[in-house]
Amino acid sequence: MNQSVVPERGLSEEVRRTLERSRAHYPDGEAGRRSLLLEALRLVQEERGWLNGEALEAVAAYLELPLVDVTQVASFYSMYELHPVGRHSISVCTNLSCHLCGGEELLAALEKRLGIRCGETTADGRFTLKKEEECLAACCAAPALMIDHQYHERVRVEDVDRILESYP
Ligand code: FES
Repeated sequence: MNQSVVPERGLSEEVRRTLERSRAHYPDGEAGRRSLLLEALRLVQEERGWLNGEALEAVAAYLELPLVDVTQVASFYSMYELHPVGRHSISVCTNLSCHLCGGEELLAALEKRLGIRCGETTADGRFTLKKEEECLAACCAAPALMIDHQYHERVRVEDVDRILESYP
């Protein structure tokens, strides 16, 4: 999470500045503002850790978009967090290629090692084990998992401790 000051309401100056720079790449008007939506949500999530109602309202107000549209987009993509999460989010793929290559065993090993189930956060707030992913688009390197948007591929159960230890 970003350490700069995050306002309770509205977007931070830093997020506004970044979005203003990006705005130049898009057309004027509503189409351009809609094009900024994914980036705006990502920036706000990076800053706050997750997207609560106020964060969604701030994005909607800044981009002059209906709140329902912003909420629909934020709830469609699994990379947006609509609930509090730990410092690190782990997504384990259990779709076909990963399933055939040990994804289920990998997930079970992570649940056992962390003492939590999918959708839960460790008591120390360090890790959230997200709901199982449909496909992380790393099928050729199955089984795959992702931590904070960083891929780990061809992961074996015996790799779990080493990988977790690299996230403070
Ligand atoms: S099936 Fe696991 S990354 Fe595609």
